[in-house]
Amino acid sequence: MDLDLGGRRVLVTGSSSGIGEATATMLAAEGARVVVHGRDRARAEQVASAIGAAGVAIGALSDEASVRAVHDAAVTALGGPVEILINNAGGNAAGNSAVAPADIAPADFVANFQANALAAITLCHLAVPAMVAAKFGRIVNVSSAVAVQPNNLGADYSAAKAALNNFTVSLAGSLKGAGVTANVLTPGVIVVDGLVRFGRARFGDPEMGFEEVSRRLAEEKVFDVPPVGRFGYPRDLAMVACLLASPLSGFITGANYRVDGGQVRGLN
Ligand SMILES: NC(=O)c1ccc[n+]([C@@H]2O[C@H](COP(=O)([O-])OP(=O)(O)OC[C@H]3O[C@@H](n4cnc5c(N)ncnc54)[C@H](OP(=O)(O)O)[C@@H]3O)[C@@H](O)[C@H]2O)c1
Repeated sequence: MDLDLGGRRVLVTGSSSGIGEATATMLAAEGARVVVHGRDRARAEQVASAIGAAGVAIGALSDEASVRAVHDAAVTALGGPVEILINNAGGNAAGNSAVAPADIAPADFVANFQANALAAITLCHLAVPAMVAAKFGRIVNVSSAVAVQPNNLGADYSAAKAALNNFTVSLAGSLKGAGVTANVLTPGVIVVDGLVRFGRARFGDPEMGFEEVSRRLAEEKVFDVPPVGRFGYPRDLAMVACLLASPLSGFITGANYRVDGGQVRGLN
């Protein structure tokens, strides 16, 4: 199927590794002009060169000025405004995944809101006007299963992702008839490098590969295995990101696409 992504100008934040890297790779393979973003220049440049990207945009997304710098670098590398914005950068910014809500420092809620919601919101603020002017745009905001089904721990991260979901629905509704869609893409447990490192340390085998870590995490019930019987891989998300980025997906907006192997016990 031709997703009609050829030549489209794309920024994928957090594409120097994990889900973002897989998404940037798949979009580039579909012919899109992709800018790779991350804080680590060497890694971002390595990915960009491997996938034949249009360029890199390097920097943290820690305040309005730094987000603007990344956006402007992407526009320069693309030679025009961002048409497809994949807000993927994020993660648990304060390391509170095992901390109870009332014990989390208020400042950590602010840090997680910046990393997992406000960075994406600021990029939308910067990129949407040109999308509206061009009558075409795609926004994909990468959230988390905990946004709709929070754990008892790590509320600074899950509350920030919930805010991102909420914002996305407002944004989609406000763009009535503009040709610009905004959707949420929700991963469950995805085996990225960070999780592989965690598994290697836990199982005492520094050579353990991707598939083996995934199998042991499931076998030893470190995480609940979702109904499909395995954890996710970055490519599982990338495939749906390509669909939501495609000009063919113009009737999908304000939606939450869960790619979690059935982890969340609900329809949305
Ligand atoms: N993996 C999962 O199981 C899972 C589950 C639910 C949701 N998610 C979400 O999926 C997204 C991608 O996660 P991943 O698992 O693929 O993580 P990852 O492999 O650690 O990649 C994260 C990417 O985001 C960048 N990044 C992180 N924080 C940033 C910041 N403050 N400013 C600029 N860049 C930043 C990193 O860049 P540098 O390393 O170069 O700095 C890296 O490119 C995140 O939003 C995460 O919350 C992941």
